[in-house]
Formats: sequence, structure tokens, C-alpha cells
Amino acid sequence: MKDSAEFRPATMKDEIKDYFSSHLKKKPSLTLLYKNIKGDLDEVEKALQLFSKSSNPIISEINSYLFQKSGKRIRPALLILCAKLLGYKGKEHINMSALVETIHTASLLHDDIIDHSDTRRGKETVHAKWGPNITVLLGDYLYIKTLGLSLESNFKDIVKILTDVSTEMIDGELFEYYMSGNLNILEHEYLEILNKKTASLFAASCQIAGILGGASKEELSRLISSGRNLGMSFQLIDDLLDFSGEAKILGKPVLSDLSEKRLTLPLIYTLKVDGAENRSRIAAILEERKLSENSTQEILKMVKSNGALEYTFQKAEEFALKAKDLINLFPKSIYRDTLSMVSDFVLNRSL
Ligand code: FPP
Ligand code: MG
Repeated sequence: MKDSAEFRPATMKDEIKDYFSSHLKKKPSLTLLYKNIKGDLDEVEKALQLFSKSSNPIISEINSYLFQKSGKRIRPALLILCAKLLGYKGKEHINMSALVETIHTASLLHDDIIDHSDTRRGKETVHAKWGPNITVLLGDYLYIKTLGLSLESNFKDIVKILTDVSTEMIDGELFEYYMSGNLNILEHEYLEILNKKTASLFAASCQIAGILGGASKEELSRLISSGRNLGMSFQLIDDLLDFSGEAKILGKPVLSDLSEKRLTLPLIYTLKVDGAENRSRIAAILEERKLSENSTQEILKMVKSNGALEYTFQKAEEFALKAKDLINLFPKSIYRDTLSMVSDFVLNRSL
């Protein structure tokens, strides 16, 4: 392998590396982060329980397994905080948050089948426990139920926002799958996948809050853009943690993108900056039907030695800072401070 230092881009400074490693050691607490909106989040949990009730025993059994309070609830938190940032005093944000979280849950049901993931949030995925047929149907059920419930809302924009975001997410997930194993994927194509599959729902959560809170046109576009940037940061860190995180803390296995031959930023960067020798070695490894432990470790070593993880963190940081800057244009309040802290959490999370 060539000396990785000579391939580092000019902007890659050692301070960034130190900053990156010290940040990953911090473990921000969600309980602390959500302390100002705990009551609302508890209401969202109740709404989720209500939405997922069914007289069909299999739907009811899986839903109670699925909606146990084990997720980060970051999208509901974002929606609640943005609504409160605008001084919203109504109650509609509770159901809207539950709808957004249900779409997210439905998308994960499908995603775990596509990605052959057997563990999520520290427990067996639904398809590992109940099989893919039931899981696809349950994902469809939750998704359609969400749209049906949104039709009953007084807040008429919700249906269009939810259908638009769902098609965008599917578009992103499809493109990601289509590009699997393609070594020629460009950074901007990868970022577009993230934008569609993940950042879109963050943006939609902020958009819903903005409309509920009576945001002006300018405030609304600021909120949406802040949500998009935060979602980009969130998914970049997700992809980074797949290389550098701990399965026990994450509640899901690491190196899973690699085993599914999904090329994420650390590997895209490696392919760009490493020499031809490493590139052809990566190509040969990705040709393997099932990646061996040795091959996985070989790629991991390349990625870790050339600054790719630091580069990915730096990108995530840029997005998180943009999200924060946009929020800081709103008047100071505890909700603005908390939204700022959400950006810090997304960037520094280890779970
Ligand atoms: C997780 O990505 C997946 C997503 C953020 C979106 C998945 C979207 C779909 C399956 C489209 C279907 C959508 C609806 C609305 C039914 P990841 O695999 O990188 O993250 P992970 O490590 O948490 O699995
Ligand atoms: Mg996945």
C-alpha cells in the first residue's frame, strides 16, 4: 500500500483527525437532549400505540414489538422542536410526529429485508423473526394506514407532504440498490441517494412543523433546508459508524454496507485517493459472492489508513453546521438551543 499521507487532500488537517476522534468518544444523552419536550414525546408514544392497534393478532403482536420505545425518535423530536420554535400552541403536532415516525418504521421494515439485516435496535429484525412475506405486508399496512390517517387530519397539506416524501425515499433506496457494487459511483451521486432516502423525511418533518406553526415563506424554506442538512449529516454518520462504530452500542451490526456491496463515502473516497493497486484489489474483493472476513478486514484497513473516515466526518460536520446556522437565524429560545444540540448529537452520536 502506498503512503497514505501523500494522498491526503490539502484540507485534511491533523486537528480534524483529533477533533474527530475526541468527538466520537463523547456519548450525548438523548434523555437530556429531549428534556424540554418530554411531555410531547410521551404523547407521541401514546399516539403510536393507538395507531398500531389492530384486531388482527399478528399485526398487533408485531406492532407492539416494533413500537417499543427503542428508537431515537429523532424525526418526531425535530417536528416538535420546530413547531415550538415558531410558538405553535396546538395539539396537531403530536399526531403528525406519530405519522412521520410510522413512515420511518415502515421504511425500515422494507430496508432490513433489502439489506439482509437481522438485527436492529439491539433485537431481531421483524423479517428475521417473522419472515419476509409478513414483513413486506406489515410495512405496506403501516405505510397505507399512515396515509389513511393523514386524510382524516384537519391539516390538509399533510397528505401531499407524506406521499411526496415517500416517493422520494423509495426513489433514493432504489437508486442505492441499483448502484450496489458499482465502483464508479461518484460522490455527488452518493450524496443524492442520502438526500432522497434519508434527508427527505427530516426535511418533511420540519416542513410539517413550519406549516403548523404558521411560518412565513422564508422561515419555511429555512426550516426545510435545515432539516435536509441535518438528515444528510445523520446518514453520513450512519455510514461512518458502519465502519468505525460498535455493534453493541449501535444495536445493529457493523460493516454491513460493505457486506451488501453498498459503496458509501469512506469507500468512495478510498477509491478516489488510493492508488490503482488498491482500487483493483477492492474491485476483486467486491466480485466475491460473499465477502470473507479477511477481505472485509483488508478493505477496512485501507479505509482507515487514508483519511477516509475523517473526510466523511468532515462532510457530516459541514452539513450539521449548515443545519445549525439556519436554525440560529430564528430568535433565541430553549427550542432553538435544543435544535442546535440535536445537530451536535447527530454529529457526535455513537448510536
Ligand atoms: C436506511 O438506510 C433506510 C432508509 C433511510 C430509507 C429506506 C426507504 C425505503 C425502504 C423505501 C420505502 C419507503 C416507504 C415509505 C415504505 P440504511 O440501510 O443505510 O441504514 P441502516 O443501517 O439503519 O439500515
Ligand atoms: Mg439498512
